[in-house]
Amino acid sequence: MRNSDDIKKAADIIQSGDLVAFPTETVYGLGADAFNPTAVAKIFETKERPSFDPLIVHIYDISQISDLYNGNDERVFKLAEKFWPGPLTLVLPKANTVPDLVTSGLNTVAIRMPANPIARELIEQAKTPIAAPSANKFGMISPTEATHVNKQFPEIYTIDGGKTRVGIESTVITLNEDGFEILRPGVITAEDLREIIPQSEQKVKETEHNAPGLLKSHYSPKKPMYIADDPCVEFKDQNKGGLISFGIPNQDCNYAKTEILSESENLREAAVNLFSAMHRLDESNIEYIVAESVPEKGIGIAIMNRLLKAAYQDERYDN
Ligand code: TXA
Ligand code: MG
Repeated sequence: MRNSDDIKKAADIIQSGDLVAFPTETVYGLGADAFNPTAVAKIFETKERPSFDPLIVHIYDISQISDLYNGNDERVFKLAEKFWPGPLTLVLPKANTVPDLVTSGLNTVAIRMPANPIARELIEQAKTPIAAPSANKFGMISPTEATHVNKQFPEIYTIDGGKTRVGIESTVITLNEDGFEILRPGVITAEDLREIIPQSEQKVKETEHNAPGLLKSHYSPKKPMYIADDPCVEFKDQNKGGLISFGIPNQDCNYAKTEILSESENLREAAVNLFSAMHRLDESNIEYIVAESVPEKGIGIAIMNRLLKAAYQDERYDN
C-alpha cells in the first residue's frame, strides 16, 4: 500500500498517546486513542474545542463495537450491515469504559466505521478505536485535503490521502423506540435510512443531544458569507465577491472568482467540492462569498445545512 509507512508511523503516534490527522471518506480527522483520556484531552486543546462537544469514535471492524456500545439492539446491526463502512455515525448507549471526555459526560457515544482504507488500516494497526473530530479549529471549515490540515495544524503528523471522496461530514443519527432521528444530515439521507428502519416521529432536542453539529454557526469561513437563490442578480459589487455556484452560472454573473460545485448540478458531486471551494475563496483576495442555494432534497438537505451554518453571522465564535 502506498501510504503503508505513513500509516505505521501514525499508528505508533496514536499508541504513544499523541495526535495524528488522517483522511476519512468524508473529511480529515484529528485522532487519538479513544481509551486514553490524556490523549483525547489533546484533541480538545489543539482544536480549541469546548469540552461540551462530544467526539465520534472510529472503528475498523464491527467486533470493536462491543468495547464501546452497551446494548444489543438489532437495528444497530441492520444499519451497520447496510451502511458500514461508510459515512453514518450512530449515537448509542455507551459502555462504562468509554472515557467521559470522549462523550462530554453524556451516557451515549457516537460510533462510526469509516470506509477510507487508510483510516481503517490506521485503526487496525493502532489496535484501539480512534476518537476523532474533523481536523479543523472549532467552528471553522472542515478539511477535505491534507493541505487544509497542514495550514491549521502544521505541527500535527498528517497522512495525505488526497481529496476526500464524500466531502461533507457523516450523517449522525440516534435511535428512539419508534425509529431513527437525524442529528446532523449527510450524504446518507433519511430516505436511505428509511429503507432499513422507520424514521422516528420525535423531533431533535438540541440540549439533550448536545450536538454542536446543530449549532447555528459552524463550518465558517473568515470572510462574510451569504446565501442567495439568484446570486447573479441579488448582489451589486460582484467584482469584489466570490461565487459558489451550484451549476454553471448565468452569463450576466460577474464575480471576481467563481467556484462551480457541479457542472451537471449533481448534488453528490457538489458535496464533494463544497468545502474545498469555501477554503479557496476564503484564502483568496475577494471581500465576501456568496453561495447559490441548492434544492433541499436528498443530499441537498446536508449541503444547505452546511451553507446556512457557514453563513450565519450573529453567534459566530471568536476562533
Ligand atoms: O464525517 C465525520 O463525521 C467526521 C470524520 C472525521 O469522521 N467527523 C466529524 O466529527 O465530523 P465532529 O467532531 O466534527 O462532529 C461530530 C458531531 C458533533 O456534532 C457532535 O456534537 C456529535 O457528532 N456527537 C458526538 N457524540 C455525540 C453524542 N453522544 N450525542 C450527540 N451528538 C454527538
Ligand atoms: Mg467538525
